[in-house]
Amino acid sequence: MERPGVIFVIHGPNLNLLGRREPALYGTATLEEIDESCRSWGRERGIDVRTFQSNHEGELVDLVQQGGDEASGIVLNGAAYSHTSVALRDAVAAVAVPVVEVHLTNTAARESFRHRSLLTAVAAGLVMGFGPRSYLLALEALR
Ligand code: DQA
Repeated sequence: MERPGVIFVIHGPNLNLLGRREPALYGTATLEEIDESCRSWGRERGIDVRTFQSNHEGELVDLVQQGGDEASGIVLNGAAYSHTSVALRDAVAAVAVPVVEVHLTNTAARESFRHRSLLTAVAAGLVMGFGPRSYLLALEALR
């Protein structure tokens, strides 16, 4: 990892609503709670975990590019854009740092339109199905 000590955690659309968004699927933890658990994981290990969320495809592209310049690794939950966005896929392919794709739910067990992620083929790896813990497993994988 070229820039040791900084990891970006990037959340895509609708994840700002966690806690009140389809809690039967996504659980009751809020995004702020998930972000705090990621930052706290980092504090315990001397890693500066920086968290971001956007509902906008182009902003997510910007954040992945920024992570490529400023971080040593990226944890990315592209949410719905994982299934649709060539631009986000190209951004992941363009950065030299490893990107770990994350989903709270096991998308392979859900609707067929969620079975394909454009990101997986260009990501370093994929963690999904473990709720908020998916993010911590992805951070651990990057470390
Ligand atoms: C998700 C799965 C996606 O299919 C969905 O569009 C999301 C969340 C997850 O974390 O399980 O918004 O990325």
